[in-house]
Amino acid sequence: MLTPQKIVLATLPLLSFSYAAWTSTPFSPPSIPLAVRTPYLSAWLGQGTGAALAGNWPTFWTGSILGWAGFAKVDGVAYNFLGASSVPGATFSTATQKSFSFTSTQSTFVLSAGPVDLTVNFLSPVEPTDLVKQSIPFSYMTVSAVSTNGASHSVQIYSDISAEWASGDDSLTVNWTTTTGDILTHQVQLVNPTIFGEASDHTQYGSAFYSTPNTVSATYQTGQDIVVRAQFINNGVLPNTRDTNFRAVSNNWPVFALSHNIGTVGTTASAPVIFSVGNIRDPALEYVVPGGTQARSLYFWSQFSTPAAVISSFLGDYSAALTRAKAFDAKVQSDASAISTEYVGIVELSIRQSLGANEITISKESNGSWNTSDVIVFLKEISSDGNVNTVDVINPAWPIYLYANPQLGKFLLEGLFRYQATGLYPNKWSVHDLGGSYPKALGHNDGADEAMPVEECGNMLIMALSYAQKSGDNSQLQRYTSLLAQWTDFLVTDSLIPANQISTDDFAGSLANQTNLAIKGIIGIKAMSQIWGILGNTAQQTNLSSIASSYVTQWQKLAASTTGPHLTLDYNDANSWGLSYNLFGDKLLGLNLFPQSVYNEQTAWYPTVSRAFGVPLDTRHTYTKSDWEIWTSTLMTNTEARDLLIHSVYLWASSGTSSQPFGDWYDTVAGAPEGFRARPVVGGHLAHLVL
Ligand SMILES: *[C@@H]1O[C@H](CO)[C@@H](O)[C@H](O)[C@H]1NC(C)=O
Ligand SMILES: *[C@@H]1O[C@H](CO)[C@@H](O)[C@H](O)[C@H]1NC(C)=O
Ligand SMILES: *[C@@H]1O[C@H](CO)[C@@H](O)[C@H](O)[C@H]1NC(C)=O
Ligand SMILES: *[C@@H]1O[C@H](CO)[C@@H](O)[C@H](O)[C@H]1NC(C)=O
Ligand SMILES: *[C@@H]1O[C@H](CO)[C@@H](O)[C@H](O)[C@H]1NC(C)=O
Repeated sequence: MLTPQKIVLATLPLLSFSYAAWTSTPFSPPSIPLAVRTPYLSAWLGQGTGAALAGNWPTFWTGSILGWAGFAKVDGVAYNFLGASSVPGATFSTATQKSFSFTSTQSTFVLSAGPVDLTVNFLSPVEPTDLVKQSIPFSYMTVSAVSTNGASHSVQIYSDISAEWASGDDSLTVNWTTTTGDILTHQVQLVNPTIFGEASDHTQYGSAFYSTPNTVSATYQTGQDIVVRAQFINNGVLPNTRDTNFRAVSNNWPVFALSHNIGTVGTTASAPVIFSVGNIRDPALEYVVPGGTQARSLYFWSQFSTPAAVISSFLGDYSAALTRAKAFDAKVQSDASAISTEYVGIVELSIRQSLGANEITISKESNGSWNTSDVIVFLKEISSDGNVNTVDVINPAWPIYLYANPQLGKFLLEGLFRYQATGLYPNKWSVHDLGGSYPKALGHNDGADEAMPVEECGNMLIMALSYAQKSGDNSQLQRYTSLLAQWTDFLVTDSLIPANQISTDDFAGSLANQTNLAIKGIIGIKAMSQIWGILGNTAQQTNLSSIASSYVTQWQKLAASTTGPHLTLDYNDANSWGLSYNLFGDKLLGLNLFPQSVYNEQTAWYPTVSRAFGVPLDTRHTYTKSDWEIWTSTLMTNTEARDLLIHSVYLWASSGTSSQPFGDWYDTVAGAPEGFRARPVVGGHLAHLVL
């Protein structure tokens, strides 16, 4: 007879197959990142069972269309390579997609357009150790052509964006300008912007930019979508004309077009035509300080004084940026392949999405100079809500910061620490977030934020110690010791027998005596013991260490099921169980606080309760969370159980059951998405890379 684990493993490969007519490497994801760098620069190509680049519109992470069109002319014949334009009175073919591949930073499509192949590459730079470059809110699209039949061909390339890149409300009026010089740039913005405003999760202020180097062969046009696209399809060139009839986004859809004549293309790939797309707003965030708020700007402003200057630098940096991206991609591939091939793909799909929720900011000194010593990183809790710097969203994503640059983690925590150190937040536990609605980090001076007391206290202590361990930088521990001690006092009171409360998995509801929440609280106490050790207070180090050890001993009796060798979901509930992912903190911090027998038992248990798409979050539902699935996989004491959990996330990501940006919450039976998409928590998929 097969064990349950073997049954699961035996049936899984049958669910994984390829749908589309092109090859996908390493697999076909639910949605392909095209330009994903900030909460507002987030362009995707939804896949489901496969959607080609030519014939489908890119969308914002919410699923609303972002007009982004591309055509090529090859020996006078027009081919669509990007978007789903319909252009009355103009004849064109659709380029045939041959392959798609992705890495941590790039999504690359090869399409055949008659006798040439087009390679369309979308590069969203990941520059975690360069705060200037990482804060530049732009991505690249490049297009190159190569002959496939040995002959030479004449090739022109065209692309445009619509004003959907400048507003979440298509009924609002926009205006625009085109500047020429070394670079052609279209700039478009709302005529009546709302500072710090959003509509349907888009920014409602600042400007969108579409640019390309102004080589001798470059031309441009602004105007109605069908007029401008017909111009290129029929003529292969744009007339360098401007439409100045400023109007609503959807009123005869104004588009902002750029074109290049590549000239004659042979069997050597042409140099790529480079486009950059993005949006800039300033100030970027509003942050609570005593007596008011502070306007904060993106870090890159410390080096550039105009959008034109930053665009010029960004375009000029393309080939160096590509070299750095390839090095980063290779490092991730090498590091993640130490676990498994499937794990590599999961990690690669997660990186742009996770870091794309962040923005790096600085403030101004009183004399107007930028203060680059004052860095705060902000994060938008994308899709579950628009909260700013949600502690229990930073926490699951934490591995990506430790892996990419621990300093980014410090700067994420800094805004939370600094706010609570003002005393404006009234509760004795850690705040849940810095503000209900991005980009307004206005705090919760009424103390009425979504209360997750044990969750957030434990998270802050664990992350603060983790950063200090990785970096050797103890400055936050020193500066915010009293907050850390206050949160520890709360955990000493409420973590062994946690009161009825929600954890980060708030959608699952509130529950008393949560076994997994108690783990987090007890690890938090032990973390503070270590923090006291770092700070030289050996009395408190010993005191808290003995409290934590005594809690573990008591917890083992409370948390063990009386009917089977596994942990419960909640005390005194013998048949319940759940993912005990908070044990990851024990491993991350190197505490060895929980006995090996707990790890061994959970390793034996999970394969017996795994469904087609993995182990459910707990016994209340059949859904699970991909971040917790991967965290739990790091706790397994054998590779079979580890790989079962990793495979379930791989299967979910590659099964074609979703067309939304990587969702962390999904059903383990049907493999169907639950409510979340595009969230930064997928940074937690890097958990194996930081142990
Ligand atoms: C666009 O509108 C803003 C005011 O809303 C104005 O300051 C700017 O000059 C306008 N730009 C153009 C090109 O008309
Ligand atoms: C502002 O003050 C800083 C020192 O705090 C100084 O380095 C900088 O040059 C000053 N900037 C201006 C514009 O005066
Ligand atoms: C720059 O920011 C740091 C960190 O917030 C602060 O301590 C310092 O006083 C600021 N410098 C100036 C000149 O405002
Ligand atoms: C040990 O730590 C707890 C929690 O911070 C505190 O309440 C208690 O007073 C401490 N005990 C000693 C002996 O310092
Ligand atoms: C929580 O568990 C403790 C210890 O078993 C028990 O005394 C208490 O009644 C439980 N609380 C609830 C609300 O079930």
